[in-house]
Amino acid sequence: MSGTMMAVVYHGKGDLRFEERPIPTILDSRDAIVKVGMSSICTSDFHIRNGAVPRARENVILGHEFAGEVVAVGDAVKKIKPGQRVAANVETFCGECWFCKQGFVNNCVQGGWELGCRIDGCQTEYVRVPFADNGLTVIPDSLAYEDVIMLSCILPSGYFGAELAEIKPGDTVVVLGAGPVGCTTMMSARLFGPACIVAVDPIGERLDFAKKNGWCDVTVNPNEEDLEAVVKGLTDGRGADSVIEVAGGKNTFETAWKVARPNGIVSLIAMYEEAQSLPLHLMYGKNLTFKTGGVDACHNDVLMKLIEGGKLNCRPLITHTMPLNDIMHGYDIFEHHLDGCVKVAITPYER
Ligand SMILES: NC(=O)c1ccc[n+]([C@@H]2O[C@H](COP(=O)([O-])OP(=O)(O)OC[C@H]3O[C@@H](n4cnc5c(N)ncnc54)[C@H](O)[C@@H]3O)[C@@H](O)[C@H]2O)c1
Ligand SMILES: [Zn+2]
Ligand SMILES: [Zn+2]
Repeated sequence: MSGTMMAVVYHGKGDLRFEERPIPTILDSRDAIVKVGMSSICTSDFHIRNGAVPRARENVILGHEFAGEVVAVGDAVKKIKPGQRVAANVETFCGECWFCKQGFVNNCVQGGWELGCRIDGCQTEYVRVPFADNGLTVIPDSLAYEDVIMLSCILPSGYFGAELAEIKPGDTVVVLGAGPVGCTTMMSARLFGPACIVAVDPIGERLDFAKKNGWCDVTVNPNEEDLEAVVKGLTDGRGADSVIEVAGGKNTFETAWKVARPNGIVSLIAMYEEAQSLPLHLMYGKNLTFKTGGVDACHNDVLMKLIEGGKLNCRPLITHTMPLNDIMHGYDIFEHHLDGCVKVAITPYER
């Protein structure tokens, strides 16, 4: 296959362009080429555009959330076959290095967050996926692209945040931020059996949306209520057993450790654009555990089964659908939460 395709390309801080790029080809025997059937835009794409992701490379096609059809595979690809419908993983990983063997795929010595960051991603028409047997999950016939598009990044990220939080049955969990990743965090947290999930966001309609979908039990708008007082009221004055920070706001790191109970866990999934302050003297004796991370997306097979079994449903997050032709408009409404936008699904380019 040869020719060109349309793509969103990062040309340096503040400079995204929708332009023509060559269609990719197999470069390594473990590669696959996937024709994009549906893609999306992640808040992390804005962090790249804003120059806040040091590992990002200029001239790269953005996008790391997609599903599509395999059109070619290299000789060493064993599981994935041309013609299959697949959901991609944000992480590129070899599966063989020390980090991969522990499940720490974000730190794979040959990969990590590569797609749409260091190598060309999916806000285009075709993608080269390295280590295709690890980076792609076959989609069961019963599921549509809309059901699995979040499996690339925001669902594993939410699951990762919930896993780091070590939630136990009966716990009270605070989730800071009810954006798309906040929502996948809440639905993943449910799998671990907490008694109460508290969603926090200054945008009332995002709180209502999370509550309506059954992802949280209590909602708090921090501009209208005293969050610490609400959480203490729910926990006999102790504070939250765990707090998952998926807002990345000006003061949300501080809120996270303040609302956690002594000996609680603070799970940090938000990607900050600025340094945060860790005033250890103010939390002395609180004995908190902080965990941070870029997603170790190593459970995508399990998450696919949970979607198939109806235990996880990310479909309501798609509030807008548009062809690749309109993706720059998609960036605008997604970034500014216009028209109730939570997540944008991008369908193939229309010629
Ligand atoms: N760790 C990872 O691997 C990983 C993966 C994907 C996304 N992320 C990051 O997760 C974060 C969330 O992503 P998203 O797409 O949901 O972003 P988003 O901007 O849509 O959502 C953030 C939410 O936080 C809310 N918020 C702002 N100030 C707040 C406050 N003071 N208290 C509570 N909520 C507040 C906002 O109103 C918004 O709804 C981003 O920083 C993104 O880059 C990390
Ligand atoms: Zn992402
Ligand atoms: Zn590896």
